[in-house]
Amino acid sequence: MTTPQPGRVYLVGAGPGDPELLTLKAVRLMMAADVVLHDDLVPAAVLEHAQEQALIMNVGKRCGHKNVTQEQINAKLVEFARRGLSVVRLKSGDPLVFGRAGEEMDALTTAGIEFEIVPGITAAFAAAAALKTSLTDRRAASSVTFTSGHHAPGSSELPASTNGATRVIYMPGRDLHAIAGQLRGEGLPADLPCVVISHAAQPDQQIQRTTLAELGQVVPGPAPNILLAGEALRAVSDAALAGTALPAAENDAAQTEVFL
Ligand SMILES: C[S@@+](CC[C@H](N)C(=O)[O-])C[C@H]1O[C@@H](n2cnc3c(N)ncnc32)[C@H](O)[C@@H]1O
Repeated sequence: MTTPQPGRVYLVGAGPGDPELLTLKAVRLMMAADVVLHDDLVPAAVLEHAQEQALIMNVGKRCGHKNVTQEQINAKLVEFARRGLSVVRLKSGDPLVFGRAGEEMDALTTAGIEFEIVPGITAAFAAAAALKTSLTDRRAASSVTFTSGHHAPGSSELPASTNGATRVIYMPGRDLHAIAGQLRGEGLPADLPCVVISHAAQPDQQIQRTTLAELGQVVPGPAPNILLAGEALRAVSDAALAGTALPAAENDAAQTEVFL
């Protein structure tokens, strides 16, 4: 009996959840994949592109509750590829932004499995589009930073911010007091515009605009949420916010945040 040629693994960005924001390449690879391993945030409308007989597995994790550990995901990628299967590892947004792709690529390299990266639209860009606001409007910001509000054990807190940067904070968590305090501690002004967006680029998208002084009082909408802060957000118009206020009852609901 001959051993099958190892299959290829594709680390594919699924974008922020709107199927129309998938790349053509992501769709083509999904249509041809034998196996699709996806994160929690990837909606059914995106998975519909997989062929009917494909094995589709949710390997996501929420709020630290891991159904499948990262080590198990790495092992599955290697195992399926060794069986000669074409594997799509589908990650929300862009696969290389806060997606633990580094560990998966290391495992594949060690196992001698070929892999390819297919970029996707990261949540920060979906948020900017929802706000109709440039993150790098030269009149207000000279840079943009992507940070995580959720930290791997042993890693440092949010890095000190750069003046003139628009800050995009992924996985901000549900209690925004600590992040607000930290940004205030860096000397950022109380009136700095901040925006929290739930389900960016999805039909139930919700946007809350506030200031750094009030940020701690904001109750984020249903997960996933992303937080933006910076002078560039002063340009967010009332029109962009129309119809996005949260009903109080939804605001109070217990939520499950999506973490790495
Ligand atoms: C593990 S990170 C993955 C980020 C992803 N790779 C990306 O490029 O967008 C998950 C976090 O991304 C953010 N996120 C992803 N999709 C989002 C969406 N549609 N709306 C708001 N935030 C989103 C949230 O902060 C969420 O907790």
